[in-house]
Amino acid sequence: MLLSALVGNAALPDDRSTYSRDELAAILRHSPLPPPPADPTNRFADSPRAAALGRVLFSEKNLSANGAISCASCHQASHGFADGRALAKGLAVGSRHTPTILGAAYNHWYFWDGRTDSQWSQALQPFENPLEIGSDRTFIVRSVARNDELRKAYQALFGAFPSVDDRARFPAHARPGSHAWGAMRAEDRDTIDRAYSNLGKAIEAYERTLPAGPAPFDRYVAALRAGDAAGESAISPAAKRGVKLFAGAANCELCHSGPTFSDGQFHNIGLPLLPGEKADPGRARGIALVRADRFNGIGPFSDDPAGAAKDRLEFLPSPATQVGAFKTPSLRNVAAIAPYMHDGRFATLGGVLDFYAKGKAASRGRLVGVRETTVDLVPHLSSRQKADLIAFLRTLTRGN
Ligand code: HEC
Ligand code: HEC
Repeated sequence: MLLSALVGNAALPDDRSTYSRDELAAILRHSPLPPPPADPTNRFADSPRAAALGRVLFSEKNLSANGAISCASCHQASHGFADGRALAKGLAVGSRHTPTILGAAYNHWYFWDGRTDSQWSQALQPFENPLEIGSDRTFIVRSVARNDELRKAYQALFGAFPSVDDRARFPAHARPGSHAWGAMRAEDRDTIDRAYSNLGKAIEAYERTLPAGPAPFDRYVAALRAGDAAGESAISPAAKRGVKLFAGAANCELCHSGPTFSDGQFHNIGLPLLPGEKADPGRARGIALVRADRFNGIGPFSDDPAGAAKDRLEFLPSPATQVGAFKTPSLRNVAAIAPYMHDGRFATLGGVLDFYAKGKAASRGRLVGVRETTVDLVPHLSSRQKADLIAFLRTLTRGN
């Protein structure tokens, strides 16, 4: 016994030997974080000039219905580009929690339910959401047209700005569903939609410049790879026990995989309805919405309608298998973006871990896209294991 205690405490040449082969392989797959994949549906995704325009649009309150709200109202740099609230509040309180936009560029599906398939088409929705910015595309395009600085920036990228000042053809306010929009000529609606989609493309370019890493965890993995025992102190012993659990026995790896700590897929993890909460169909509805979205990757405003976006839209699962499924969130920067889950129900990481730790009792879920059966997601976790997992999750925050 004494001998095994001694062996257990002996200084190891490096941390690699504390992990099983599978755990080590999984850990190494989480880092480094590569640059975001290209977005061929947006020719301007990596244009610095587009990013400069997008940056202005992102915090421009004058595009909102009340002149007081912008993207930055809810995606605040000081809150890890989320808002710190359980449920988002723009013109009114919505039914979902604001996710961070850090690392969003790694996704193929946007929103908790994946109802858009690009980051530029995502950006077009909050502008018209009556609970968020509450505006309309015609007003927004006309506002950009009237602003010398914005119009010039637009023209330098996308070419001549369409002439939209004929009030008989372009009403002050019009969006799909409104009477004024229905009364417009199809070609004028296209003119607005084209300019509107370009504004989304500029916003995506800006969002892509916001780095999601690196974090202390990445320094740790670099040290593991290099066999640099000194560098392995980048994270605490508790965090190391946490990463071992995460990549091994605790099964988190099943969904929170790869450098973003997300499989990019949708799962129903069995969260019970809160008192008074309406059932949210999640991905089941998101599938119908993304197929119908005029701004999707195969639509008239995509710069790559025959590319990979086409395959992704063609091979969607049956919505009936996706009820209550939400996108696996990235865990990068997770400590900076409390509260948690699609409805912001857990105020702290401790709350999240308490839910998972109940194991069989609470975490039964349908592993949509992984396995078509109901299985236990996570084994029972002790208090110490929960604390270790939290210590690990805290090492994923950039610049800490
Ligand atoms: C009122 C608060 C609010 C405003 C304003 C707002 N958002 Fe969001 N944002 C949210 C919420 C809530 C979600 C998730 C909604 C859902 O899943 O249904 C979200 C989701 C997102 C996502 C998806 C992230 C992901 O990983 O899927 C991006 C990107 C984003 N917003 C960017 C923007 C941009 C760009 C604007 C401005 C045009 C904007 N948001 C305005 C609250 C807001
Ligand atoms: C079956 C897939 C799956 C497994 C296994 C899983 N998760 Fe998750 N995780 C998700 C999904 C999906 C969500 C979002 C659920 C929702 O909002 O309805 C989530 C949410 C989270 C969040 C909240 C993040 C945020 O931004 O709101 C944290 C933290 C988290 N998981 C950590 C873990 C840990 C730690 C483990 C292992 C103990 C684990 N997860 C196991 C799929 C999974």
